[in-house]
Amino acid sequence: MLKFYKNEEGIIYPSVELLDKEMMDVHKEINEKHTPEYEIKDNKIIVKVNHGMSDEHYITAIVYQFCDGFMTIKLNPTDKPEVELDYHGGGILYTICNIHGVYAKSIDLGI
Ligand SMILES: [Fe+2]
Repeated sequence: MLKFYKNEEGIIYPSVELLDKEMMDVHKEINEKHTPEYEIKDNKIIVKVNHGMSDEHYITAIVYQFCDGFMTIKLNPTDKPEVELDYHGGGILYTICNIHGVYAKSIDLGI
């Protein structure tokens, strides 16, 4: 069974119990390039991913899951990994990389 953890920054990641320090550094760097960043402004949520986009390696989708639904924005290699969506009050953002898989970040409600 695959376990997931959430760190103090709200980043959700798979279990790293078996990884050594070097592998954890690599894992951290990969996490930083795939974990979505967001800004909430005027009832919109602007989601950005610090990941390059090429035909061989790119973010294929950004997903916003909220309490009663979700939105999926599919991306092509020529797109910027950035989307603006209607904000539904909290939830979880996911990014999907065609090579490295799924990454997620919960939205901080500040409460
Ligand atoms: Fe990637």
